[in-house]
Amino acid sequence: MRLNKFLSSCGVASRRKCEEIILEGRVQINNKVVLTLATDVNEKKDVVSLDGKVLSLPNDFVYLKLNKPKGYACTSSDERGRKTIFDLVESDVRLFNVGRLDYDTEGLIFLTNDGDFANMVTHPRFNIEKEYIATVEGEMKESELAVLRKGVVENGVRMPQAKVKLLGYDGKFSKVSVVIDEGQNRQVRRMFDCIGKSIKLLKRVRIGKVVLGGLYRGKTKPMTQEEIDFFKDIK
Ligand code: URA
Repeated sequence: MRLNKFLSSCGVASRRKCEEIILEGRVQINNKVVLTLATDVNEKKDVVSLDGKVLSLPNDFVYLKLNKPKGYACTSSDERGRKTIFDLVESDVRLFNVGRLDYDTEGLIFLTNDGDFANMVTHPRFNIEKEYIATVEGEMKESELAVLRKGVVENGVRMPQAKVKLLGYDGKFSKVSVVIDEGQNRQVRRMFDCIGKSIKLLKRVRIGKVVLGGLYRGKTKPMTQEEIDFFKDIK
């Protein structure tokens, strides 16, 4: 296997970034620094290290996108006996969800067995954007959108700012795009509660650069290498 592929499979970074790491002289094979990108690794015999730390290939990480439907809990077993997102997933390996969506929220959520990846996606330090489409009763006024953008005040505490855009109003419901980079509990619903608006439907459509796209409700799809690398490159 090519060295950059080996490094990226070990979870170091994307293949492109791994090439930079090789050229920086940080990688050794069998205790010798390797600077040639076109180097092959024998995964069974060679000892590869990065910054002096020996690397090993994981037992095949799995990365899935799920379009979570409304009415499913993000837990492996629900104490109230409700349906869970794991009822929708067939996998030979044990997976966990990366972050959560409320029982009544639908849309994009990742499932994986790679703890480092989950940490990259959810750690507040990395400020990964999450975009939601909120369907709200009535017409949203510009003044209300401005309050959401600035950060609503809830019980005397200002909630984080958000990017907020009105997508349309059909005479009954407004559709609003809300982009946040924190993951506080029920954050979007609480924002709208604070301005007296109730959300009829909340759907997550994007995490970082990864979009829900045309994935059907209740279906999963493996993430592409490019989608996985987006998060690995953030380090
Ligand atoms: N904000 C919410 O209010 N609910 C979610 O499920 C996610 C973000």
